[in-house]
Amino acid sequence: MISTHDLCLQYGERVLFEDVSLKFTEGNCYGLIGPNGAGKSTFLKILSGDVDPFSGQVVVPPGLRLAVLKQDHFAFNEFEALTTVLMGHERLYAIMQEKDALYAKPDFNEADGMRSAELEAEFGELNGWEAEAQAGELLCGLGIPVPRHGVAVRDLDDGDKVRVLLAQAVFGDPDILLLDEPTNHLDVDSILWLEEFLLSFQNTVIVVSHDRHFLNRVCTHIADIDFRQVRMYTGNYGFWREASEMALRHRQAKKDKNDDRARELKEFIARFSANASKSRAGDLT
Ligand SMILES: Nc1ncnc2c1ncn2[C@@H]1O[C@H](COP(=O)(O)OP(=O)(O)O)[C@@H](O)[C@H]1O
Ligand SMILES: [Mg+2]
Repeated sequence: MISTHDLCLQYGERVLFEDVSLKFTEGNCYGLIGPNGAGKSTFLKILSGDVDPFSGQVVVPPGLRLAVLKQDHFAFNEFEALTTVLMGHERLYAIMQEKDALYAKPDFNEADGMRSAELEAEFGELNGWEAEAQAGELLCGLGIPVPRHGVAVRDLDDGDKVRVLLAQAVFGDPDILLLDEPTNHLDVDSILWLEEFLLSFQNTVIVVSHDRHFLNRVCTHIADIDFRQVRMYTGNYGFWREASEMALRHRQAKKDKNDDRARELKEFIARFSANASKSRAGDLT
Protein backbone atom coordinates (compact mmCIF):
# COMPACT_ATOMS: atom_id res chain seq x y z
CA MET A 1 0.00 0.00 0.00
CA ILE A 2 1.11 3.53 -0.72
CA SER A 3 -0.93 6.68 -0.32
CA THR A 4 -0.71 10.39 -1.06
CA HIS A 5 -2.22 13.16 1.02
CA ASP A 6 -2.97 16.58 -0.44
CA LEU A 7 -0.02 16.51 -2.81
CA CYS A 8 0.71 19.78 -4.58
CA LEU A 9 3.48 20.42 -7.07
CA GLN A 10 4.19 23.21 -9.47
CA TYR A 11 7.10 24.14 -11.67
CA GLY A 12 7.14 27.91 -12.02
CA GLU A 13 3.72 28.94 -13.23
CA ARG A 14 2.76 25.42 -14.22
CA VAL A 15 0.69 23.61 -11.59
CA LEU A 16 1.02 19.85 -12.09
CA PHE A 17 -0.86 18.58 -9.02
CA GLU A 18 -3.29 20.23 -6.66
CA ASP A 19 -4.39 18.43 -3.48
CA VAL A 20 -4.03 14.91 -4.82
CA SER A 21 -5.07 12.33 -2.22
CA LEU A 22 -5.09 8.73 -3.34
CA LYS A 23 -4.56 5.25 -2.01
CA PHE A 24 -2.95 2.43 -3.97
CA THR A 25 -3.53 -0.95 -2.36
CA GLU A 26 -1.99 -4.41 -2.66
CA GLY A 27 -3.30 -6.89 -5.16
CA ASN A 28 -4.01 -4.07 -7.60
CA CYS A 29 -2.22 -2.84 -10.69
CA TYR A 30 -2.81 0.84 -11.41
CA GLY A 31 -2.27 2.14 -14.94
CA LEU A 32 -1.22 5.79 -14.75
CA ILE A 33 -2.29 7.58 -17.92
CA GLY A 34 -2.55 11.12 -19.24
CA PRO A 35 -1.28 13.21 -22.13
CA ASN A 36 2.45 13.84 -22.67
CA GLY A 37 3.71 16.35 -20.15
CA ALA A 38 0.75 15.77 -17.81
CA GLY A 39 3.09 14.72 -15.02
CA LYS A 40 3.03 10.91 -15.08
CA SER A 41 6.78 10.48 -14.61
CA THR A 42 6.85 13.26 -12.04
CA PHE A 43 4.05 11.59 -10.08
CA LEU A 44 6.04 8.33 -9.92
CA LYS A 45 9.12 10.30 -8.82
CA ILE A 46 7.12 11.88 -6.02
CA LEU A 47 5.96 8.42 -4.92
CA SER A 48 9.53 7.09 -4.95
CA GLY A 49 10.84 10.14 -3.08
CA ASP A 50 13.05 11.30 -5.97
CA VAL A 51 11.04 14.52 -6.29
CA ASP A 52 9.77 16.42 -3.25
CA PRO A 53 6.22 17.71 -3.51
CA PHE A 54 5.64 21.40 -2.90
CA SER A 55 3.29 20.36 -0.08
CA GLY A 56 1.51 17.21 1.06
CA GLN A 57 2.89 13.76 1.80
CA VAL A 58 3.48 10.29 0.51
CA VAL A 59 2.97 7.55 3.07
CA VAL A 60 4.53 4.10 2.76
CA PRO A 61 3.73 1.95 5.79
CA PRO A 62 6.88 1.05 7.77
CA GLY A 63 8.67 -2.08 6.64
CA LEU A 64 7.32 -2.00 3.08
CA ARG A 65 9.87 -2.01 0.28
CA LEU A 66 9.42 0.10 -2.81
CA ALA A 67 11.17 -0.73 -6.09
CA VAL A 68 11.50 1.41 -9.21
CA LEU A 69 12.37 0.57 -12.79
CA LYS A 70 15.57 2.59 -13.25
CA GLN A 71 15.59 4.88 -16.26
CA ASP A 72 19.36 5.38 -16.50
CA HIS A 73 20.65 2.67 -18.85
CA PHE A 74 24.28 3.45 -18.04
CA ALA A 75 24.21 3.58 -14.23
CA PHE A 76 25.10 -0.11 -13.85
CA ASN A 77 27.60 -0.36 -16.71
CA GLU A 78 30.43 -1.62 -14.54
CA PHE A 79 28.39 -4.31 -12.74
CA GLU A 80 27.66 -7.80 -13.95
CA ALA A 81 24.10 -8.50 -15.09
CA LEU A 82 23.32 -10.79 -12.13
CA THR A 83 24.80 -8.36 -9.59
CA THR A 84 22.74 -5.55 -11.12
CA VAL A 85 19.58 -7.57 -10.54
CA LEU A 86 20.58 -8.26 -6.92
CA MET A 87 21.15 -4.53 -6.40
CA GLY A 88 17.39 -4.09 -6.87
CA HIS A 89 17.00 -5.15 -3.24
CA GLU A 90 19.16 -2.46 -1.65
CA ARG A 91 19.19 -3.82 1.89
CA LEU A 92 19.97 -7.37 0.84
CA TYR A 93 22.76 -6.17 -1.44
CA ALA A 94 24.23 -4.00 1.34
CA ILE A 95 24.28 -7.03 3.65
CA MET A 96 26.05 -9.12 1.00
CA GLN A 97 28.68 -6.39 0.57
CA GLU A 98 29.28 -6.01 4.29
CA LYS A 99 29.49 -9.78 4.82
CA ASP A 100 32.01 -10.17 2.00
CA ALA A 101 34.13 -7.33 3.41
CA LEU A 102 34.10 -8.88 6.89
CA TYR A 103 35.03 -12.37 5.71
CA ALA A 104 37.84 -10.94 3.62
CA LYS A 105 39.44 -9.30 6.66
CA PRO A 106 42.78 -10.87 7.58
CA ASP A 107 42.31 -9.77 11.23
CA PHE A 108 38.72 -11.00 11.73
CA ASN A 109 38.07 -10.39 15.46
CA GLU A 110 35.34 -11.10 17.99
CA ALA A 111 33.38 -7.92 17.17
CA ASP A 112 33.48 -8.91 13.50
CA GLY A 113 32.14 -12.31 14.48
CA MET A 114 29.21 -10.71 16.33
CA ARG A 115 28.50 -8.40 13.43
CA SER A 116 28.59 -11.19 10.89
CA ALA A 117 26.17 -13.24 13.02
CA GLU A 118 23.73 -10.30 12.94
CA LEU A 119 24.16 -9.95 9.22
CA GLU A 120 23.70 -13.67 8.61
CA ALA A 121 20.44 -13.59 10.58
CA GLU A 122 19.06 -10.69 8.57
CA PHE A 123 20.36 -12.27 5.35
CA GLY A 124 18.40 -15.42 6.17
CA GLU A 125 15.24 -13.47 6.98
CA LEU A 126 15.47 -11.77 3.60
CA ASN A 127 15.76 -15.15 1.89
CA GLY A 128 19.33 -14.30 0.93
CA TRP A 129 20.35 -17.89 0.18
CA GLU A 130 17.82 -18.02 -2.63
CA ALA A 131 18.65 -14.58 -4.00
CA GLU A 132 21.17 -15.49 -6.70
CA ALA A 133 19.04 -18.35 -7.98
CA GLN A 134 15.98 -16.09 -8.12
CA ALA A 135 17.88 -13.31 -9.89
CA GLY A 136 19.18 -15.87 -12.39
CA GLU A 137 15.67 -17.19 -13.01
CA LEU A 138 14.39 -13.69 -13.72
CA LEU A 139 17.16 -13.12 -16.26
CA CYS A 140 16.53 -16.49 -17.93
CA GLY A 141 12.79 -15.77 -18.01
CA LEU A 142 13.56 -12.54 -19.83
CA GLY A 143 15.65 -14.37 -22.40
CA ILE A 144 19.15 -13.73 -21.02
CA PRO A 145 20.84 -17.15 -20.75
CA VAL A 146 23.17 -18.13 -17.90
CA PRO A 147 26.46 -17.53 -19.78
CA ARG A 148 25.52 -13.86 -20.05
CA HIS A 149 24.67 -13.40 -16.36
CA GLY A 150 28.30 -12.66 -15.55
CA VAL A 151 28.78 -10.18 -18.39
CA ALA A 152 29.15 -6.50 -17.45
CA VAL A 153 26.03 -4.48 -18.30
CA ARG A 154 28.25 -2.26 -20.46
CA ASP A 155 28.88 -5.18 -22.81
CA LEU A 156 25.22 -6.15 -23.22
CA ASP A 157 23.17 -4.91 -26.16
CA ASP A 158 20.51 -2.26 -25.52
CA GLY A 159 17.61 -4.73 -25.41
CA ASP A 160 19.39 -6.83 -22.78
CA LYS A 161 20.22 -3.72 -20.71
CA VAL A 162 16.51 -2.88 -20.51
CA ARG A 163 15.71 -6.47 -19.55
CA VAL A 164 18.34 -6.46 -16.78
CA LEU A 165 16.86 -3.25 -15.34
CA LEU A 166 13.39 -4.78 -15.46
CA ALA A 167 14.61 -7.89 -13.64
CA GLN A 168 16.27 -5.58 -11.10
CA ALA A 169 12.98 -3.73 -10.44
CA VAL A 170 10.94 -6.87 -9.87
CA PHE A 171 13.64 -8.81 -8.00
CA GLY A 172 12.89 -9.89 -4.45
CA ASP A 173 9.14 -9.37 -4.55
CA PRO A 174 8.90 -5.66 -3.69
CA ASP A 175 5.81 -4.48 -1.81
CA ILE A 176 5.34 -1.54 -4.14
CA LEU A 177 6.54 -1.58 -7.73
CA LEU A 178 6.75 1.59 -9.84
CA LEU A 179 7.25 1.16 -13.59
CA ASP A 180 7.56 4.08 -16.00
CA GLU A 181 7.01 2.93 -19.59
CA PRO A 182 8.36 -0.59 -18.99
CA THR A 183 7.40 -1.88 -22.44
CA ASN A 184 9.51 0.71 -24.28
CA HIS A 185 12.44 -1.04 -26.02
CA LEU A 186 11.12 -4.46 -24.93
CA ASP A 187 10.62 -7.23 -27.47
CA VAL A 188 7.29 -9.04 -27.69
CA ASP A 189 8.42 -12.05 -25.63
CA SER A 190 9.63 -9.83 -22.80
CA ILE A 191 6.37 -7.87 -22.84
CA LEU A 192 4.47 -11.15 -22.54
CA TRP A 193 6.78 -12.20 -19.70
CA LEU A 194 6.08 -8.90 -17.90
CA GLU A 195 2.33 -9.27 -18.42
CA GLU A 196 2.40 -12.74 -16.87
CA PHE A 197 4.59 -11.51 -14.04
CA LEU A 198 2.24 -8.62 -13.21
CA LEU A 199 -0.87 -10.80 -13.48
CA SER A 200 0.44 -13.10 -10.77
CA PHE A 201 2.03 -10.32 -8.67
CA GLN A 202 0.27 -10.01 -5.30
CA ASN A 203 1.53 -6.58 -4.20
CA THR A 204 0.99 -3.02 -5.42
CA VAL A 205 1.97 -1.97 -8.95
CA ILE A 206 1.73 1.50 -10.48
CA VAL A 207 2.65 1.54 -14.16
CA VAL A 208 2.85 4.31 -16.75
CA SER A 209 2.33 3.07 -20.28
CA HIS A 210 1.08 4.19 -23.68
CA ASP A 211 0.56 0.57 -24.67
CA ARG A 212 -3.21 0.10 -24.51
CA HIS A 213 -3.08 -3.62 -25.05
CA PHE A 214 -0.64 -4.00 -22.19
CA LEU A 215 -2.74 -1.79 -19.88
CA ASN A 216 -5.83 -3.79 -20.79
CA ARG A 217 -4.13 -7.03 -19.86
CA VAL A 218 -2.59 -6.06 -16.54
CA CYS A 219 -4.51 -3.19 -14.93
CA THR A 220 -7.19 -3.49 -12.30
CA HIS A 221 -7.48 0.31 -12.04
CA ILE A 222 -6.74 3.35 -14.18
CA ALA A 223 -5.44 6.57 -12.63
CA ASP A 224 -5.95 9.38 -15.12
CA ILE A 225 -3.93 12.59 -14.69
CA ASP A 226 -6.24 15.33 -15.79
CA PHE A 227 -6.15 19.05 -14.95
CA ARG A 228 -4.04 18.89 -11.77
CA GLN A 229 -5.98 15.93 -10.42
CA VAL A 230 -5.55 12.19 -10.62
CA ARG A 231 -8.88 10.47 -11.17
CA MET A 232 -9.15 6.84 -10.23
CA TYR A 233 -11.30 4.38 -12.16
CA THR A 234 -11.82 0.75 -11.23
CA GLY A 235 -11.31 -1.52 -14.22
CA ASN A 236 -8.84 -1.86 -17.06
CA TYR A 237 -8.06 0.58 -19.84
CA GLY A 238 -10.97 -0.51 -22.06
CA PHE A 239 -13.34 -0.04 -19.18
CA TRP A 240 -11.85 3.37 -18.41
CA ARG A 241 -12.29 4.46 -22.03
CA GLU A 242 -15.91 3.39 -22.06
CA ALA A 243 -16.59 5.04 -18.70
CA SER A 244 -14.90 8.29 -19.66
CA GLU A 245 -16.66 8.36 -23.05
CA MET A 246 -19.94 7.76 -21.28
CA ALA A 247 -19.18 10.60 -18.85
CA LEU A 248 -18.40 12.82 -21.82
CA ARG A 249 -21.68 11.85 -23.53
CA HIS A 250 -23.47 12.48 -20.27
CA ARG A 251 -21.91 15.96 -19.94
CA GLN A 252 -22.72 16.60 -23.60
CA ALA A 253 -26.34 15.49 -23.08
CA LYS A 254 -26.59 17.75 -20.06
CA LYS A 255 -25.17 20.63 -22.07
CA ASP A 256 -27.59 19.92 -24.95
CA LYS A 257 -30.41 19.85 -22.44
CA ASN A 258 -29.20 23.17 -21.02
CA ASP A 259 -29.05 24.53 -24.57
CA ASP A 260 -32.66 23.33 -25.10
CA ARG A 261 -33.75 25.00 -21.87
CA ALA A 262 -32.01 28.22 -22.82
CA ARG A 263 -33.75 28.14 -26.21
CA GLU A 264 -37.11 27.45 -24.58
CA LEU A 265 -36.53 30.27 -22.13
CA LYS A 266 -35.57 32.66 -24.91
CA GLU A 267 -38.66 31.73 -26.89
CA PHE A 268 -40.79 32.10 -23.78
CA ILE A 269 -39.33 35.53 -23.06
CA ALA A 270 -39.83 36.55 -26.68
CA ARG A 271 -43.46 35.37 -26.61
CA PHE A 272 -44.03 36.94 -23.24
CA SER A 273 -42.63 40.30 -24.24
CA ALA A 274 -44.58 40.18 -27.52
CA ASN A 275 -47.77 39.52 -25.53
CA ALA A 276 -46.81 42.17 -23.01
CA SER A 277 -46.24 44.75 -25.71
CA LYS A 278 -49.48 43.64 -27.38
CA SER A 279 -51.39 44.08 -24.13
CA ARG A 280 -49.67 47.43 -23.54
CA ALA A 281 -50.64 48.39 -27.04
CA GLY A 282 -54.19 47.28 -26.10
CA ASP A 283 -54.06 49.44 -22.97
CA LEU A 284 -53.19 52.47 -25.02
CA THR A 285 -56.10 52.09 -27.28
N1 LIG B 1 12.58 19.40 -12.83
C1 LIG B 1 11.67 20.05 -13.57
N2 LIG B 1 11.66 21.39 -13.64
C2 LIG B 1 10.73 22.05 -14.37
N3 LIG B 1 9.75 21.45 -15.06
C3 LIG B 1 9.70 20.12 -15.04
C4 LIG B 1 10.65 19.33 -14.30
N4 LIG B 1 10.33 18.03 -14.45
C5 LIG B 1 9.26 17.99 -15.25
N5 LIG B 1 8.88 19.24 -15.61
C6 LIG B 1 7.71 19.57 -16.43
O1 LIG B 1 6.58 19.00 -15.83
C7 LIG B 1 5.70 18.50 -16.82
C8 LIG B 1 5.41 17.04 -16.58
O2 LIG B 1 6.54 16.25 -16.91
P1 LIG B 1 6.52 14.66 -16.88
O3 LIG B 1 6.20 14.22 -15.49
O4 LIG B 1 7.80 14.19 -17.45
O5 LIG B 1 5.30 14.32 -17.85
P2 LIG B 1 4.83 12.93 -18.49
O6 LIG B 1 5.66 11.84 -17.90
O7 LIG B 1 3.37 12.83 -18.16
O8 LIG B 1 5.01 13.08 -19.97
C9 LIG B 1 6.32 18.80 -18.16
O9 LIG B 1 5.73 19.99 -18.64
C10 LIG B 1 7.76 18.98 -17.83
O10 LIG B 1 8.36 19.86 -18.74
MG1 LIG C 1 6.99 10.45 -18.73
